[in-house]
Amino acid sequence: MDHSLKIYFFFLLLLSIIPSSDQQHPLDSLNPTEFVRVRAIVNQSYPLSRNNLTFQYIGLNEPDKQVLISWLEKVNNLPTPPPPPSREAFVIARINHGTHELVVDLSHDEIVSDRVYEGNGYPLLTFEEQNGANQLVYGSAPFLASIAKRGLKVKEVVCGSFTVGWFGEMRRTGRIVRVMCYYLDGTVNLYMRPIEGITVTVDLEAMKVVHFKDRLVVPTPKGDGTDYRESRQKAPFGPELKRITVVQPDGPSFTIDGGRVRWANWDFHLSFDARAGPIVSLAAVYDTEKQQFRRVMYRGFVSELFVPYMDLTEEWYYRTFFDAGEYGYGLCAVPLEPLRDCPANAVFRSAFVTGGDGTPIEIPNVFCIFERNAGDIMWRHTETMIPSGLVTEVRPDVSLVVRMVSTVGNYDYINDWEFKQIGSIKVKVGLSGLLEVRGTQYTHKDQIHEEVYGTLLAENTLGAHHDHFLTYYLDLDVDGESNSFVKSKLQTVRVNDPCSPRKSYWKVVSETARTESDAKVKLGSDSADLLVVNPNKRTKMGNFVGYRLIPGSVAGPLLTDDDFPQIRGDFTEYNVWVTPYNKSEKWAGGTYVDQSRGDDTLATWTSRNRRIENKDIVLWYTLGFHHVPYQEDFPLMPTISTGFELRPANFFENNPVLKVKAPNINLLQIIDLFACELDLNRANILSNAPRVLPHALSTRVHFLRVDPIFGVQVVDLNIREYPVKLVLGPKPGPQSQALLFPSQFEQVRVLSHDGCTDGQHLEYLFFGYDVPLIRIRAM
Ligand SMILES: *[C@@H]1O[C@H](CO)[C@@H](O)[C@H](O)[C@H]1NC(C)=O
Ligand SMILES: *[C@@H]1O[C@H](CO)[C@@H](O)[C@H](O)[C@H]1NC(C)=O
Ligand SMILES: *[C@@H]1O[C@H](CO)[C@@H](O)[C@H](O)[C@H]1NC(C)=O
Repeated sequence: MDHSLKIYFFFLLLLSIIPSSDQQHPLDSLNPTEFVRVRAIVNQSYPLSRNNLTFQYIGLNEPDKQVLISWLEKVNNLPTPPPPPSREAFVIARINHGTHELVVDLSHDEIVSDRVYEGNGYPLLTFEEQNGANQLVYGSAPFLASIAKRGLKVKEVVCGSFTVGWFGEMRRTGRIVRVMCYYLDGTVNLYMRPIEGITVTVDLEAMKVVHFKDRLVVPTPKGDGTDYRESRQKAPFGPELKRITVVQPDGPSFTIDGGRVRWANWDFHLSFDARAGPIVSLAAVYDTEKQQFRRVMYRGFVSELFVPYMDLTEEWYYRTFFDAGEYGYGLCAVPLEPLRDCPANAVFRSAFVTGGDGTPIEIPNVFCIFERNAGDIMWRHTETMIPSGLVTEVRPDVSLVVRMVSTVGNYDYINDWEFKQIGSIKVKVGLSGLLEVRGTQYTHKDQIHEEVYGTLLAENTLGAHHDHFLTYYLDLDVDGESNSFVKSKLQTVRVNDPCSPRKSYWKVVSETARTESDAKVKLGSDSADLLVVNPNKRTKMGNFVGYRLIPGSVAGPLLTDDDFPQIRGDFTEYNVWVTPYNKSEKWAGGTYVDQSRGDDTLATWTSRNRRIENKDIVLWYTLGFHHVPYQEDFPLMPTISTGFELRPANFFENNPVLKVKAPNINLLQIIDLFACELDLNRANILSNAPRVLPHALSTRVHFLRVDPIFGVQVVDLNIREYPVKLVLGPKPGPQSQALLFPSQFEQVRVLSHDGCTDGQHLEYLFFGYDVPLIRIRAM
């Protein structure tokens, strides 16, 4: 087939999935102009000067799924595409001490719905109200007295606002937070220096301290050894590695067009939400055989995080946080550090949230997107059985990663969506940052004879036991909206046939879940493959096309069902739930999680036990960690990760990456040297002209390398060593350590090596995936 024709065809298909170009996509996050308009439109109905009004949340009210899908189809098939569905914002505002849910139509500049929420629970906290609450303590005489009593300096005290949970109270307590304080005094690691024993309760609406208690005095842990800044560390230091970088001489293989990302066989839309963080929509994978994109996931995001602590002391028992619904997983996102948070080949994207007054605030570098070449193998085989010689075929695994880091107070959640050429979507979360520790009088384990709810990590420092549960919303649309959830259980069969030499085997028993209760799965006990299939589409072999959920490490709740935090977090009871699609069921812990009572959760929705067979369904997956702190987690935790994979299962007719070609050896620059040594001092760096060098026999060759990323460099190559050692830089020397490292050059193919004497010919080829081909010819 004509190559250009194929490309043209491919391009048409790309267009068919998501409308291209500058036009705003209906799923794009609200842009700053839209945030400003939302505020202005709300101001028309509720003049900001005459109302107490704060915006707790503003985000896209995404179009109804059916509306969007039929629009996408029309965009596809009609010569003049219809206008996109109207843009709407969903707003949760506190207006004169009531919670309003507003739908703002941005196409007609009007509020189309205004509902006062009267149920249990409160909306997300704004940064402004948390800061406001934190500042109040400095004006509180009893608080200042408590600080003085402990011999601490007020100017070194910093405070944070903690949501208070719910413990069965019938009466509503209003929007309150507990303000807990920490001590700096020479360190930045305030979380390792809690000022224990003091409880300050602040009413956020009145912005007043409503309760104060100083229950006990224990030593505030020392600052020594808590600082994690490199500049504050003292020798001895750990081993230092040589620099490592990723070079893509031809640039990245992905394109980003607004929210739309295309890479290899993937096409998806990426947006940002203050509550959920990254949202991946309309993920479709290209099927080379069928020559079309096939949808895999309509929408996926983090729905809730549940972090209950196990410490029952008065200052701690209530710490049972819902990080997405109380603090905003997206709101807490932080700018990523180039070259540290993300590799050298990453590109960055910003996003906007709003302040409590509705004004947009940019979070720069909130996403990084990069191709990961971690040295893994996508597939390989060496055939040793053929007498005529070995057959070896290998394809390296290169994937695309979208990363965001959310720093919710002390914790840093590293959130990756990874797209693999094999058709998998891998979701990973890494936990780092700081533990929440409790101050204690203990300085050695042997002194402890009571329940302390944690591990003694350092003097006066107890790391509290706690959990992290992350619940993902995964609206899979495997080759269309109508899907079913199938549990393929692996069942041991006892063989009773006396003629069989075997006594047992296992077989697969597949069950299609008919209703929501059939689909609840606690992982860990049974062996089962969990699949979302399209019962209306089959492969040529007759198997239903599907995707499989491959869980990572599994954790379920250890709290009892009647414990109040668990009632609120009951969506963690099963690792897997399946619900029929319903636009308003997005947040597993409910829309209003602060002081929620567990009456609007995934568990309550599914109690309706709706039918889910051959329907548009949503898969909910909860992963978790039970965190027992260890001393290595002090003063800052090394990252611990888990995740899961959504992997094609009879989705393709055969291995979808069979025809993926091995990456090109990038022919960037061929440099011919007509001798074995190039005198550096006389080398004209900017010229690649062949030059004659004085010494015939030498072990060293200097040559020029022209690279779009690193510019012109001189490469010092010792040709007598194998593997070849390279030193790059303006001049060989300690300061010009390798930007490329020897392993990348291990494949040295000697084309001809006649010795390096006058008039003779020597040619080496160096190649690697990230490295340009360099040819050195000596005459
Ligand atoms: C709100 O509307 C009033 C007029 O009703 C206007 O003076 C004021 O600037 C507006 N405020 C904002 C923030 O748009
Ligand atoms: C806003 O709330 C404060 C404190 O409750 C109150 O004093 C003030 O009168 C309110 N302002 C308006 C405009 O309602
Ligand atoms: C969607 O879910 C909400 C919340 O569970 C429920 O109140 C509503 O009735 C559901 N809508 C449909 C059409 O089932």
